[in-house]
Amino acid sequence: MTEGNWLRRLRKTVLVAVGAAALVAGTATHAAAAPPPSDGPVTPQVVGGTRAAQGEFPWMVRLSMGCGGSMYTDTLVLTAAHCVNSTGNNSSITATYGTVDLQDPNRVTRTSNYVYRNPGYSTSAGGDWALIRLSSPITGAAKLPLATSTAYDNGTFAVMGWGSATEGGAQQRYLLKAEVPFVPDSTCQQAYPSMKTAVEICAGYPQGGVDTCQGDSGGPMVRRDSAGNWVQVGIVSYGQGCARPNFPGVYAQVSALSSAIASAAASLSGPPQSGKVFENLNNVSIPDAGAAVFSAVSVTGVTGNAPSNLAVGVDIKHTYRGDLVIDLVAPDGTAYRVKNSSSSDSADNVVTTYSVNASAEVANGTWRLRVQDVYTADTGFIDAFRLTF
Ligand code: ARG
Repeated sequence: MTEGNWLRRLRKTVLVAVGAAALVAGTATHAAAAPPPSDGPVTPQVVGGTRAAQGEFPWMVRLSMGCGGSMYTDTLVLTAAHCVNSTGNNSSITATYGTVDLQDPNRVTRTSNYVYRNPGYSTSAGGDWALIRLSSPITGAAKLPLATSTAYDNGTFAVMGWGSATEGGAQQRYLLKAEVPFVPDSTCQQAYPSMKTAVEICAGYPQGGVDTCQGDSGGPMVRRDSAGNWVQVGIVSYGQGCARPNFPGVYAQVSALSSAIASAAASLSGPPQSGKVFENLNNVSIPDAGAAVFSAVSVTGVTGNAPSNLAVGVDIKHTYRGDLVIDLVAPDGTAYRVKNSSSSDSADNVVTTYSVNASAEVANGTWRLRVQDVYTADTGFIDAFRLTF
């Protein structure tokens, strides 16, 4: 086979779901929030919050389980571990992006296809973060950079969400925002003796009154960096009630978690998901007007599902390619037709890369190329079969 024919790579796209989170006054629970009321509260003030302007926090996402999130890439939403159940395929989450109004007819929505929950969250290490992969990208979405050092773990922060505007209150239709000052670990530990100072950062006023709350979880806490751009320093995590005096809000400390988030993101996304190539170079002869023949590859070590643009490299030598019907067969037996027969296509050979939306399939397992010659005269062989994930 000719190596050069294989090298066309397809960009993998990821779906991103967007959701809304309410900000200000909340409780330490993260129970899924009820959907916002149909006409929404009009109260302009939440516990210490005000309405955010359209476009003010463009990377902000609402998640359908009643949490917030932030766009990390076009296909990945960063949220809280406690907002999701477990790592694995997950098509149950809708993400809403691009609006402060959850009922905006122009809102952008995506469905999830995979969740990565920080495996350390359930251990003493902690770290309340998770990534949600969208089933198609929000192309060109605004992305919120993560703090990679403690340089910005101080000062005044902005928080935002569609969660409760008062402790025990309703979820919000419109995005609310507020500002809260940094609280040193030593002070925060007075409220929460078992807080994990290595991976948590606190914010709030001694007198209370301004806070995130239920339904804001997973949303970002941000500030301006030295260049004046937003940087994410926290993820809404928990608190005792909402906006209570001497009980600041507790946030996942992004500066301590950003490198782990980046590595998880790299394993979850990317044009080719991993750049991993699986190929079978054994020749398989194709009988004239005969039974289908197969070439198989065994895929291992790829996280989650196959991409929506799985690159299927096919190199078949044949003296009349119109004779050939070609399918990609997934590990579970599902067949994806990539080429039909055509009695008029008398050209030689099929040397190309097809793109298959295989996002419903788990990546790992045995994938087969099935080739059948359906007309008499002319034969050939499968020269090579390659999948690029
Ligand atoms: N765990 C809550 C949620 O799931 C967020 C709590 C934030 N509480 C606070 N007082 N800051 O929405």
